[in-house]
Amino acid sequence: MMERNIKRVVLIGAGAVGSSYAFALLNQSITEELVIIDANEDKAMGDAMDLNHGKVFAPNPTKTWYGSYEDCKDAAIVCICAGANQKPGETRLDLVEKNLKIFKSIVDEVMASGFDGIFLVATNPVDILTYATWKYSGLPKERVIGSGTILDSARFRFLLGDYFDVAPANVHAHIIGEHGDTELPVWSQADIGGVPIHTLIKRHEHYRMEDLDELFVNVRDAAYHIIDKKGATYYGIAMGLARITKAILTNENSILTVSTYLEGQYGEEDVYIGVPAVVNRNGIRDIVELTLSEKEQEQFTHSAGVLRKILAPHFI
Ligand code: 2OP
Repeated sequence: MMERNIKRVVLIGAGAVGSSYAFALLNQSITEELVIIDANEDKAMGDAMDLNHGKVFAPNPTKTWYGSYEDCKDAAIVCICAGANQKPGETRLDLVEKNLKIFKSIVDEVMASGFDGIFLVATNPVDILTYATWKYSGLPKERVIGSGTILDSARFRFLLGDYFDVAPANVHAHIIGEHGDTELPVWSQADIGGVPIHTLIKRHEHYRMEDLDELFVNVRDAAYHIIDKKGATYYGIAMGLARITKAILTNENSILTVSTYLEGQYGEEDVYIGVPAVVNRNGIRDIVELTLSEKEQEQFTHSAGVLRKILAPHFI
């Protein structure tokens, strides 16, 4: 990978998710340069102007402009948020055909610039489109990352924190699998400040597994509820993308649940899917293999199978 002095992020797709991501990057001063590309040039231009007007209020100034695919050449990260999103009643997987076409042309243009950094993919169905980006780009698998279940894990930690009345930062719990209807909670490895959730349930009568099962359903279906209410979800995912971006640009070696390529881990291969992974300036350094219960392993295998079945007609 090319060594760069400047930390440049190129955002492709300035819809609700993309512009919220740009806003999060600027507010936290995560990157030195931010380039915005959108098929609608006026929208990209307007966003760049608007964001530049807030620059003086940020911890550090981020050089921000609307650009073209040529700007990808020197980028550390190209984040793709472009594509169609779910209408009420649609699943993430319903978007596959439309968004694969859009991705082919975007990834080809990015690669034609000479880009040699890390792709971060947010568009749904994210696990499928991350796989597609890896195939279309020809980049090493470590340098193509999807947002995966980072948002689902954040929703999970938020609701668990609420239930046990502790800050979400003290909840260690993962949602893994497809970012979508077949995802699963890893209850067997979930803990609150080091105490396993199963122990808490045994110890205290007022904590009940039935409540937690319902809590998970709320996590899994959260996007449907938000889409019903306001048409789309964007702040949560945008902050998750900013979190991944920071882990890459500051070489954190942080463990985040992202969509990554499996080659035998969790008994699966040739699929991009959400699992905890160590993220640093080179992308995915390692995959963290949680010890799953038998039921969790079955659910994970099912989830990976669903994704592979969708990939098959397009890539195999
Ligand atoms: C979300 O989970 C729709 O994937 C998007 O908020």
